[in-house]
Amino acid sequence: PKRIFSGIQPTGAIHLGNYLGAIAQWVKLQNNGEDMILSIADLHSMTIPHDSKKLSRNILEITATLLGCGIDPEKAILFQQSTVPEHTQMSWCLGCICTMPRLAHLPQYKEKSKDLKDIPLGLFIYPVLQAADILAYKATHVPVGEDQIQQIQLCQELARMFNSRFGQTFPIPHTLITGTDYARLRSLRDPAKKMSKSDTDPKSRICITDKPEDIVRNIKKSVTDCTSEVNYDIEQRPGVSNLISIHSFVTGKTVDEICKEAQNINTGQYKLLVADAVVEYLRPIQERISDYLSDQHYLMEVLKIGQEKASEISSSTWQEMQHKLGMTFNV
Ligand code: TYM
Repeated sequence: PKRIFSGIQPTGAIHLGNYLGAIAQWVKLQNNGEDMILSIADLHSMTIPHDSKKLSRNILEITATLLGCGIDPEKAILFQQSTVPEHTQMSWCLGCICTMPRLAHLPQYKEKSKDLKDIPLGLFIYPVLQAADILAYKATHVPVGEDQIQQIQLCQELARMFNSRFGQTFPIPHTLITGTDYARLRSLRDPAKKMSKSDTDPKSRICITDKPEDIVRNIKKSVTDCTSEVNYDIEQRPGVSNLISIHSFVTGKTVDEICKEAQNINTGQYKLLVADAVVEYLRPIQERISDYLSDQHYLMEVLKIGQEKASEISSSTWQEMQHKLGMTFNV
């Protein structure tokens, strides 16, 4: 049977990259009736120095945001990673079959450690915990953006290694990527980079909860190129193409339709069109998010129910794993 697992870090506001690359896929899969488990990866958000005064607030905000985007706790299991101890327990055991050179090669580690003088151990073993997240539920599919592909590959390798050493236990999870540029939405300031929560320039992204005037300003100021025409060419013209992708997503129009309609306007005028469409698309989502945020007890209740449902599955996987590893007694 198919089982879908994914996760998101509770670090600051969710941006359009997270939404188009991951969350919108999750909502679609959920509404197709798939068995879906979503984790708010608070343990992962500690791998770089974090603000302990903000974390719990961020967890509730991301919960409200996911609900506002259409995640339905009746249909999907939504929970906070650290409330299910099996993730860290399994992570230790998986860490014992993973090698250091394998982790050192991962691009996300290289990227995130490059500006740090002292590298936390947690940052290094981050992908092992991510593998435990997925394997705790014996997930078969993992819908993520392109930046997560290598991490999921590590998870696949660890699952194979575990199975071959200790006996068939885990299905090998498949990565699910949206088939378009949504899987790697680009920064508005530098289309060579992906849109990212950690970019120091907030003008590089559109957050789901940004005010309309900020959305308009950031799109207006987005970096494109010297050609004034609106046409789609992700290689030669990544800046405009990124805007066309966003526009296509929020209006449901195809890239061809959009380019045809924009034949007689220049990129400057086109940016205003895109900005308006994004503001309109986000308006109802933002209203729902602020409604959810006004009821923190409800949000905590959602996470508690999610924790109970998630624990039921992960505790049974952990028991099996303990047994396979020889940690239990057969008397
Ligand atoms: P995180 O919180 O960085 O991002 C959440 C999701 O958003 C996707 N994403 C993007 N997609 C398209 N374009 C972009 N510019 C863009 N930026 C981010 C990410 O690919 C991701 O799918 N390690 C994970 C969280 C995690 C997880 C897991 C995921 C923890 N455990 C288990 C899958 C399975 C992360 O940091 O995502």
